[in-house]
Amino acid sequence: MQCLRNIQRCNFISFTRGLPFCQFSSKSIDVNQLRVELTKEFQSVGIERRESLLSAEYIIAHVLGKKMFHEVSRKTMIPKAQWLQIKELAKKRSERMPLQYVLGEWDFHDFTVKLSPPVLIPRPETEELVEYVLQDVGPDRSCQKFLEVGCGSGAVTLCLLSKLPWITAVACDISREACDLTTENLTKYQVDGRAVVLNMDFKDSETIQRICELGPFDFILSNPPYIPSADIDHLDPEVKTYEDRRALDGGQDGLDFVRHLLAVSPPLLKTNGKLWLETGLEQHGLIKKMIDSKPEQNMTFLQSLEDITNRERFCLIQKRSR
Ligand SMILES: C[S@@+](CC[C@H](N)C(=O)[O-])C[C@H]1O[C@@H](n2cnc3c(N)ncnc32)[C@H](O)[C@@H]1O
Repeated sequence: MQCLRNIQRCNFISFTRGLPFCQFSSKSIDVNQLRVELTKEFQSVGIERRESLLSAEYIIAHVLGKKMFHEVSRKTMIPKAQWLQIKELAKKRSERMPLQYVLGEWDFHDFTVKLSPPVLIPRPETEELVEYVLQDVGPDRSCQKFLEVGCGSGAVTLCLLSKLPWITAVACDISREACDLTTENLTKYQVDGRAVVLNMDFKDSETIQRICELGPFDFILSNPPYIPSADIDHLDPEVKTYEDRRALDGGQDGLDFVRHLLAVSPPLLKTNGKLWLETGLEQHGLIKKMIDSKPEQNMTFLQSLEDITNRERFCLIQKRSR
């Protein structure tokens, strides 16, 4: 009976099924116990065990003003106000919202980028693509200008502009939300003055004309939508419910966007300019074939590059000198 009364009074925790409410004072809650209960809650909605634990830890740390859970003292008693905030975020995670959207930010390379649905959450592989580009450019100050096609949150453009302080960029995306986030993230790190952000459809000829006026570019970089349409329904609920389908769907074979990029890139690039692509698994053979079948496009498939798990995930293509 006492327990029931506590549940009613403290109904702000009632979402955590099985929580031994009566052991908590209504003013605060033990951090370790909350971690265990949130983990159970996330597991009960189908989130994998380790992912559930990490989600619980990140949410608790975030509300307590820390980045990582290990920075939180195990003796912490969480006051009611913060406990309420944790409850709100945990509810979103239980609805299978990706943790990065729940927190509203995530680290990419050396930067903490703001994130919100439905703009694609930048993936760790894309950090590897950025590393390849940075290594390739090195200290070469004659490399002056690049184009990012499908900039999403702006994480990639932000990283390159910050690490290459002499370079300028054009970043394009069909999504209004993506362009707004890109501008916000570039502004946060004070590199917005070196970028033009275009909210335009890259498949539209007017866009290509506009971008042409801003070029030519030393390199173009894109992590395009590359998932075959039929595979989208099999993705995790986090991805297919919350992330923009336009960021994922690459058409029947996943390569619609790549085909278009190969067709329109040559006039946008300087001679010997490079096209860097992130791709899905096992797409490089097809991409190489596409390039070889159109010699008039004047492009050469230079190299397949691997991610940290030794899978071919990035392509380096170059515009030939005639
Ligand atoms: C896979 S996401 C990459 C986002 C970001 N570059 C990253 O790596 O996190 C692809 C992006 O392409 C954009 N996109 C899709 N179709 C487009 C189009 N026709 N024109 C311009 N951008 C497009 C999507 O809105 C999405 O932001």
